[in-house]
Amino acid sequence: MGRSSRSGQGFPQLLGCIRSVLFPARITPRVLFAYCFVFLAITTFLGIRMHLRTYLSAVLYGLPALSQAAAATASTTADPFQLYTISAENITAKFIPYGARLTSLLVPDRDGNLQDVVVGYDDPKQYLRDSETNHTYFGAVVGRYANRIKNGTFDIGTKQYHIPENENGGEDTLHGGTVGYDQRNWTVTSYSNSSITFTFVDRALEDFPGDVVTHATFSVQTKATLENPRGLPQLTTKLVSLALTETTPIMLANHIYWNLNAFKDETVLNDTWLQLPLSKRLIGSNGILIPNGTILDVDVYNGAPDFTAGKLVGQDIEEADGLCGTDCTGYDTCFIVDRPLQYAARNSMVPIVHMNSSTTGISLDVATNQQALQIYSCNGQNGTIPVKESQVKRNQDEGVDGATYVNKYGCIVIETEGWIDAINNPTWGQLSDQIYSPETGPAVNWATYQFGTV
Ligand SMILES: *[C@@H]1O[C@H](CO)[C@@H](O)[C@H](O)[C@H]1NC(C)=O
Ligand SMILES: *[C@@H]1O[C@H](CO)[C@@H](O)[C@H](O)[C@H]1NC(C)=O
Ligand SMILES: *[C@@H]1O[C@H](CO)[C@@H](O)[C@H](O)[C@H]1NC(C)=O
Ligand SMILES: *[C@@H]1O[C@H](CO)[C@@H](O)[C@H](O)[C@H]1NC(C)=O
Ligand SMILES: *[C@@H]1O[C@H](CO)[C@@H](O)[C@H](O)[C@H]1NC(C)=O
Ligand SMILES: *[C@@H]1O[C@H](CO)[C@@H](O)[C@H](O)[C@H]1NC(C)=O
Ligand SMILES: *[C@@H]1O[C@H](CO)[C@@H](O)[C@H](O)[C@H]1NC(C)=O
Ligand SMILES: *[C@@H]1O[C@H](CO)[C@@H](O)[C@H](O)[C@H]1NC(C)=O
Ligand SMILES: *[C@@H]1O[C@H](CO)[C@@H](O)[C@H](O)[C@H]1NC(C)=O
Repeated sequence: MGRSSRSGQGFPQLLGCIRSVLFPARITPRVLFAYCFVFLAITTFLGIRMHLRTYLSAVLYGLPALSQAAAATASTTADPFQLYTISAENITAKFIPYGARLTSLLVPDRDGNLQDVVVGYDDPKQYLRDSETNHTYFGAVVGRYANRIKNGTFDIGTKQYHIPENENGGEDTLHGGTVGYDQRNWTVTSYSNSSITFTFVDRALEDFPGDVVTHATFSVQTKATLENPRGLPQLTTKLVSLALTETTPIMLANHIYWNLNAFKDETVLNDTWLQLPLSKRLIGSNGILIPNGTILDVDVYNGAPDFTAGKLVGQDIEEADGLCGTDCTGYDTCFIVDRPLQYAARNSMVPIVHMNSSTTGISLDVATNQQALQIYSCNGQNGTIPVKESQVKRNQDEGVDGATYVNKYGCIVIETEGWIDAINNPTWGQLSDQIYSPETGPAVNWATYQFGTV
């Protein structure tokens, strides 16, 4: 069809029009402009569709960060030692912004008396002194990367990163470096009667690559739900982190020291029953607890670390001589969570710990979306840190002659987290849960703690 078609009507004219647009006789500036416009419109539309999921996660998790960033300067004037209390029926928890830290958790024992089942200090300022001296990490959130990083180095792509080593004379980095998240003054970005959210913007601190924003949300509830059919008092912890600018390791953890006997006994060895039903394997480490690339069966050390069927914490502890490092007897061990079929979805919530005390009757069930858990049996405590006066008083009021200092084996830390130092052991196949970038979804460490009585 030639120029004559201009005088034509209807369909042939339309066809001619399309053809002249697709195959123009001549590329005029106007045609070029039209082409660019159409190209831009289509790619923008496709781009929005492709990135919708990323946008969604940014909207869901990231937006509160903007208000936080704006409030960041204000936060420096807020008191990092102010106590915040949240409660639901039969559960009351207290927190401070310094380390986004759980300082107290009250639940009823089998007689209905409230007991504080976490270790720490009554005086919030004592946590600062603790960081400067014993550095227990009592109740804090640890990060950007929990536990030990061998040699303080890791590779991302072809680039090696080096962060400050703060342990063992420079052989490794523990809990995120010299000033980890446990020593940061977080900002309270939400607070209700039953929940609190702390937010921290980490601008490439401790030489980690890029910025990371984290929201740490703690809540309590006693409502019956599908996951909590008996409506037990429940604490939920949710650590949600976004890599904002670069590709970086992220592995946060809560570092709560539990004592279900509420210091009515000198230790947890004889009264506290512990079950790790899914942990048939653990991560092998050298004499200073740095993972050495091995995965061991829990039958090592004559089965001392085998808690799959459950037993008293102290039952086999004497066999665990060297398990927590050279000249150390006890547990400071990263247990792997091997998911059974019904919990096969990698980040679904799975029950991993059952614990109870025959002294108080208090039981604790922990579920998490994480792939491992560290158990530390307070091998390094030595009776120099006093038990909270508030709990000593409760025990005295009940006529119980309990512990007044935190003794060796006087508590148990449970850290739900990833396989420790997996960033230096890529053959373990854990990197998708430990390396994040602006293009990936958020890092989410989610756990529930349900309290009952036996
Ligand atoms: C709270 O604890 C008391 C004493 O143990 C118990 O009688 C009561 O049923 C509990 N309430 C709920 C909602 O569990
Ligand atoms: C007890 O442990 C602390 C560190 O937590 C240490 O400073 C102190 O020297 C230890 N005391 C004894 C008697 O071992
Ligand atoms: C912590 O460690 C220091 C130094 O070892 C010690 O003097 C102090 O009593 C310990 N306890 C507390 C609660 O700070
Ligand atoms: C250990 O760290 C140093 C930097 O302190 C680095 O040069 C070296 O390559 C690291 N070694 C290994 C095996 O990663
Ligand atoms: C947190 O606040 C306390 C009290 O103001 C201060 O001593 C400490 O240095 C702060 N921590 C950091 C990492 O800035
Ligand atoms: C929160 O607690 C306060 C004081 O105890 C109470 O007055 C208020 O009704 C509570 N709000 C909700 C939503 O439960
Ligand atoms: C635990 O029990 C053993 C043996 O039954 C006993 O020797 C030990 O003194 C007890 N320890 C504590 C702290 O009660
Ligand atoms: C790693 O540590 C485990 C536990 O201590 C030990 O059994 C194993 O021989 C060590 N392996 C290497 C390669 O060092
Ligand atoms: C603790 O739990 C285990 C497993 O459910 C159970 O066998 C044990 O009797 C419990 N302890 C007490 C003191 O009830």
